[in-house]
Amino acid sequence: MNTAIILAAGQGTRMKSQTAKVLHKVGSKCLLQHVVDAASDHVETINVIVGHNSQSVKGAIKESKVNWVLQDKQLGTGHAVQQAAPLLNDDSTCLILYGDVPLIQSKTIEELLIKARTSGFSLLSVVLDDPSGYGRIIRDTNGLIQSIVEQKDASERQQNVKEINTGIMAIKGSLLKKYLNELKPNNAQGELYLTDIVESAVKDNVNIASFVCENASEVMGINDKKQLSQAERFYQVRQAEDFMSSGLTIMDPSRFDCRGGLTFGNDCTIDVNVVFEGDNVLGNNVLISPNCIIKDSKIGDNTSIFPNSIIENSIIGSNTTIGPFARIRPDTNIGDHSKVGNFVEIKKSTIKNNSKVSHLSYVGDSKIGDDVNIGAGVITCNYDGANKHQTEIKDGAFIGSNSQLVAPVSIGKNATIGAGSTITQNAPDNKLTLSRNKQSTIDKWKRPKKK
Ligand code: UD1
Ligand code: CA
Repeated sequence: MNTAIILAAGQGTRMKSQTAKVLHKVGSKCLLQHVVDAASDHVETINVIVGHNSQSVKGAIKESKVNWVLQDKQLGTGHAVQQAAPLLNDDSTCLILYGDVPLIQSKTIEELLIKARTSGFSLLSVVLDDPSGYGRIIRDTNGLIQSIVEQKDASERQQNVKEINTGIMAIKGSLLKKYLNELKPNNAQGELYLTDIVESAVKDNVNIASFVCENASEVMGINDKKQLSQAERFYQVRQAEDFMSSGLTIMDPSRFDCRGGLTFGNDCTIDVNVVFEGDNVLGNNVLISPNCIIKDSKIGDNTSIFPNSIIENSIIGSNTTIGPFARIRPDTNIGDHSKVGNFVEIKKSTIKNNSKVSHLSYVGDSKIGDDVNIGAGVITCNYDGANKHQTEIKDGAFIGSNSQLVAPVSIGKNATIGAGSTITQNAPDNKLTLSRNKQSTIDKWKRPKKK
């Protein structure tokens, strides 16, 4: 049986924020949730140590395995783990993770746990060009781990060591409890250091299995906004690489952002500076052109989204084109072989198949059938200043350019609306309806001349 302990009680002063450090986000998901998710595949219970902002931290995390443990005063990482000690089973393997080290991979955790099961204690380290700030791993001449020395307590020689403690470890419950009892605040910070359990284990002849992480970004700690932005980029690039290995074409992984879930069929292409938010589903052969924002939407096969378009909480059919410069607002459903062109805004509307809204239109609260053509500059006047009203445009209708359809109103099947009309009453099927002043020409009129 495995148990996890995640340390998340610290304040995170260097973030300079009212929000708890572990609630800052990478890929739209808070740091602590990343760690909880990585742990949850491997353990039965997750004890999260909270202190600062504990109420908001508790409220933000979704996972049924989490058990909250309060650390009233932050007296060090060892003290934090002590708070969970009474909950630990002697025979279990305890995985210790940090709430501010969010990019840890499930595979690394698995390896660490396997090593701990044989040796009783395993430790994840990493070699850094610049180890400053971290605890150093001190090894003997045979390369066996002897202790961890914090930067503030390290001699000059120890400070030159580049192998550092990631903080992540796995240890048998009985051993952890025993060594936690031996902790003393004999150090520069007067804290109970969790890292001191290493020396106790060495005295106890426990052979600590070390595991050097190959990828420094996976174990980076986040203490300030600069590191937060670096973690975001590492996360995005790693995710882009995963997607590419599943066949997604990404024009430039350094200009790709997916803040949520993305599923895609074969032969989809994502051009530069596209942002995906929430959960999105792409069919086969979908093109997303540069500078689009796609949120909680579904896009069908062979559909292209042209540059600078925004689609939110909508469903787009197959063989359809959207944009450039289109805005598809929530609760819109656009069918197959349809077209929404430049500078068109669609809100809470259904547009069926083979229909076109090609230029500069506003379509809101509308139901549009098959084979409809909406000319340039058409506006559905859906709002009377107090209430929203529906517009219906039936199959085969043609709406001339620069027309206003004042809702509630219905345009009949195969009806034609003359350009420049303001339609306030229902238009019948199969007929031309228009509302337009007669054109006149003033014969003797002359242009004024400059004096
Ligand atoms: C710690 C390690 C250091 C390691 C580094 C890796 C110790 C003594 N040092 O140093 O060897 O290289 O992490 O990032 O363990 N926390 C609590 N309660 C406390 C104190 C801390 O929950 O009383 C939590 C913090 O919220 C944070 C984590 O423990 O999530 C680490 O604490 P932090 O103070 O950042 O440790 P470091 O000084 O970075
Ligand atoms: Ca500290």
